[in-house]
Amino acid sequence: MGKTKKVRKQPISAFGPGPDAGPSKSEIASKSAASTALGRLRSGSGNRTVVSRKITQSTITRFHTLLKQQANLKRNLKAGREKDRDTELQGIQRQLDSIEQEMNELGGLNAYQIASTLGQSKERGGDSSKVLVKWLEELGIKREKMAQNQKLRMLEIGALVPDNYASCSKWIDNHPIDLHSQHPDILEQDFLERPLPSGERDTFDVVSCSLVLNFVSSPADRGKMLSLIHQQLRGESPSFLFLVLPLPCLTNSRYLTLDTFQEMMRITGFTLEKEQWKPGGKVGYWLWRKTDSICGDSDQWRKKTVIQDGPKRNNFAVVLS
Ligand SMILES: C[S@@+](CC[C@H](N)C(=O)[O-])C[C@H]1O[C@@H](n2cnc3c(N)ncnc32)[C@H](O)[C@@H]1O
Repeated sequence: MGKTKKVRKQPISAFGPGPDAGPSKSEIASKSAASTALGRLRSGSGNRTVVSRKITQSTITRFHTLLKQQANLKRNLKAGREKDRDTELQGIQRQLDSIEQEMNELGGLNAYQIASTLGQSKERGGDSSKVLVKWLEELGIKREKMAQNQKLRMLEIGALVPDNYASCSKWIDNHPIDLHSQHPDILEQDFLERPLPSGERDTFDVVSCSLVLNFVSSPADRGKMLSLIHQQLRGESPSFLFLVLPLPCLTNSRYLTLDTFQEMMRITGFTLEKEQWKPGGKVGYWLWRKTDSICGDSDQWRKKTVIQDGPKRNNFAVVLS
């Protein structure tokens, strides 16, 4: 009879000591504890500690809801300030404080990241890098880089771990960044604030944006993120955006469908190269090739427009500036 492994179930908060939702000094101090917890959870050997799928999923879902509410309230706060409406402002501030408190109680961004890391563990289907690597191989890019003894320059936005592409280090030179770094090899940076490349040498062959666009809470910032990714990509040779989204963002939104998203991407300067998703599936994968952006055609994307309605639809939207 094979050895049985001891499995203990614990809540996410047991691993998420970060006090805030955003990166702060106190969070940086707590990172090593969180990383140790992540290491233990990922090791898959010895006495394994397991957090139930239900708990990780409910932490992620609740965190997304709170982020959306926070973004809306911040917009209302800004509008209220412009109109000098003091009583309204106090009410909004109280709601913002209670959202922040709930985020802290959930364990902040640390707990969210730990839940997401568990979501990408091998036991739960693995991370998205294997889809991208397979596509780059199919496109002959691996063969080309190996033959030229060169590496593909990649920017990975929203990296929970530093080594998603470690097994490809002979031909991929990955630069992982995250709002809240869980490891010294991940640069702590908000992609929306990342300086633009100062020349072609600083640009990337591939930008990976896996389950990040849906984390960005405002439609305008999502549009900005896509446009900034376009500017980070190489222009002189083929370059690609690898995008992963929860499938309902494009199959069940009031504001987008798979077809209209493709049209919006065409205007932003991307043409579809590959896609992988199945009807009713949880996640979709897309590879977009950089093309020229189409100025002048973006008017219909400057605001949200309902294209299909119904009580069960979600509000995922992207707005271009
Ligand atoms: C759901 S996790 C996805 C992680 C991983 N890429 C995956 O596919 O499982 C989203 C990550 O994106 C990061 N993130 C969100 N907005 C970001 C931004 N503007 N710049 C950098 N990282 C960001 C979050 O901190 C979080 O760690």
